[in-house]
Amino acid sequence: MIIAISHQKGGVGKSTIAYNLSVELSKKFNVNVVDLDVQQTITACNVIRGKFGQKRLNVLNFEDKKEFIDFLNEDIKNNITIIDTGGFDSGMNRVAMYASDLIITPVSTEFLEVIGLEKYKKIIKEVSKKVGKSIKTHIVLNKIHHAQQNFGDIQSFIKKSPNQFELLNSVLRRRSDFSISLSHGFSVCEFDNTSDSSKEMKKLILEISEILDFKTHMKKKKKGKH
Ligand SMILES: Nc1ncnc2c1ncn2[C@@H]1O[C@H](COP(=O)(O)OP(=O)(O)OP(=O)(O)O)[C@@H](O)[C@H]1O
Ligand SMILES: [Mg+2]
Repeated sequence: MIIAISHQKGGVGKSTIAYNLSVELSKKFNVNVVDLDVQQTITACNVIRGKFGQKRLNVLNFEDKKEFIDFLNEDIKNNITIIDTGGFDSGMNRVAMYASDLIITPVSTEFLEVIGLEKYKKIIKEVSKKVGKSIKTHIVLNKIHHAQQNFGDIQSFIKKSPNQFELLNSVLRRRSDFSISLSHGFSVCEFDNTSDSSKEMKKLILEISEILDFKTHMKKKKKGKH
């Protein structure tokens, strides 16, 4: 299974979400993480993770598009590969889009997000046309103010493009634990398993596992084996 966290817009929370998903899913499944972010956020957090005594993730870096495609083609059935794409448009990031079983796109509800999504929609359409396959992304609202309950503007924008966008039910609020936990190489759940951010992250993971039907398609890894 391949999951890409993708948006050409920078700073929306791709690496934060990719890292949290990777850490949590790697507790049950064999997970590979591909770091396409030029800032190498996940690679750096993974080093810190080791220094704080946690088992490191299996993070892979690719410079070459062909090597990346070969890896995705060979990736065995019982693995989950999570791709953290860069916040820009590139050939590698487009490969991640068409090769994935699920694309997740974090967006906030600020006005400029709509412009970012318009641009992303164009990219989705171009990639869909090129590979002859309809590509859709699942949008997760991220960095949302704790008191905000109405997401009407972004919801109605998303609804206008049902072939490219679908809104997830999970909402991740703007919470300081996300950056504090990352600075220790921890997921929000490892940092404080009872926090609101960890509850939201678990809800997102459950929603993803239902969409991809992990119960039917994924074997859990054996205890003690990475
Ligand atoms: N739910 C959240 N609550 C609070 N801060 C968050 C949340 N999600 C992400 N952030 C913060 O937003 C900033 C950008 O996040 P991140 O680096 O994950 O974005 P990105 O999309 O990967 O950026 P880029 O496109 O540059 O790779 C970071 O400082 C991160 O800690
Ligand atoms: Mg990033």
